[in-house]
Amino acid sequence: MKILVTGCAGFIGYHLCDYLLKNKKLKIFGLDNLNNYYDIDLKKNRLKSLKKNKNFKFSKIDISDEKKITTNFKQNKYSIVVNLAAQAGVRYSIKNPEVYQKSNINGFFNILENCKKFKVKHLIHASTSSVYGDNKKFPLKEHFNTDKPLSFYAATKKSNEVMAFAYSNIYNLPITILRFFTVYGPKGRPDMSLYKFTDAIINNKIVRLFNNGDHVRDFTYISDVVDAIEKVIFSKNNKEVPYKIFNVSSNNPQTLKKFLNEIEKNCNKISKKVYLKLQKGDVHKTHGSNDLISKQLGFKPKVTIEKGIFNFVKWFKKVD
Ligand SMILES: NC(=O)c1ccc[n+]([C@@H]2O[C@H](COP(=O)([O-])OP(=O)(O)OC[C@H]3O[C@@H](n4cnc5c(N)ncnc54)[C@H](O)[C@@H]3O)[C@@H](O)[C@H]2O)c1
Repeated sequence: MKILVTGCAGFIGYHLCDYLLKNKKLKIFGLDNLNNYYDIDLKKNRLKSLKKNKNFKFSKIDISDEKKITTNFKQNKYSIVVNLAAQAGVRYSIKNPEVYQKSNINGFFNILENCKKFKVKHLIHASTSSVYGDNKKFPLKEHFNTDKPLSFYAATKKSNEVMAFAYSNIYNLPITILRFFTVYGPKGRPDMSLYKFTDAIINNKIVRLFNNGDHVRDFTYISDVVDAIEKVIFSKNNKEVPYKIFNVSSNNPQTLKKFLNEIEKNCNKISKKVYLKLQKGDVHKTHGSNDLISKQLGFKPKVTIEKGIFNFVKWFKKVD
């Protein structure tokens, strides 16, 4: 089976490819534009490790490049496409909305078009808990209102969900949308809190706590996220898919303060903190119900926050 993973040099894409490549029957095609949103060496290192496997083939392509992406789909005839390539990050979208328009809207349109044209059996697409905006009812469920995204990043992801619904409806294209909740783990993103906090503590920098550290996040460990994607790829129910949305969360929200505390324990050091006000675009709390994906696909998150942070800090200390 040929599987395309876009954004394969990214955090989630790398871990997904690495896991799928353990199955020798699969041919994994990775695609990424290797942009410099964060340390490009981290992306190159992830890629270097994937390239060691002969069942992995990489192409440096931007999904917004219609010609190149169409040629790539035509040549490879994928069965499954997992679209993880996107401009991520809530805060970056305040000053750089055009990047989100290009990758997340134009790029996603090219993915949809090619999945339709080349009869891909199942498109799996990464959405985000940010689509829930400032919903006040918890845990967040898939049918809740998502009409008021607080950032342009969230707006592009919500748009993707709606675009995908129309494609699935008109062209009978099977699509599953996965709303990820703050994914963390080794080889994680330098723009995310776990990386930033650990870096600050170890290198004696100041930890900047927005909203006075009162944010609550449903941190979800990377291997649990990979497990959820794998369950969707190999689900026997795919024939009846046309269009589905699942939360992928740990269903175990933590305050940012508790999260920081756990990192401090692992670094054996107390951080120097500065408390800042809420940033525009940030939501106060995320807490996702994972009932739907549990019932339909048997998903069950396994990694505790303590174990997850332990694994991350161990990795960080090695590369720092
Ligand atoms: N990590 C999280 O907590 C989280 C939460 C919710 C949703 N998501 C979504 O999951 C997906 C993967 O996230 P991640 O954390 O691995 O981010 P990431 O930034 O590490 O990975 C994304 C990858 O896509 C590539 N990319 C970006 N624009 C591209 C384009 N136009 N063409 C080709 N490649 C492009 C980047 O170079 C990067 O390697 C994204 O869609 C993101 O929005 C992530």
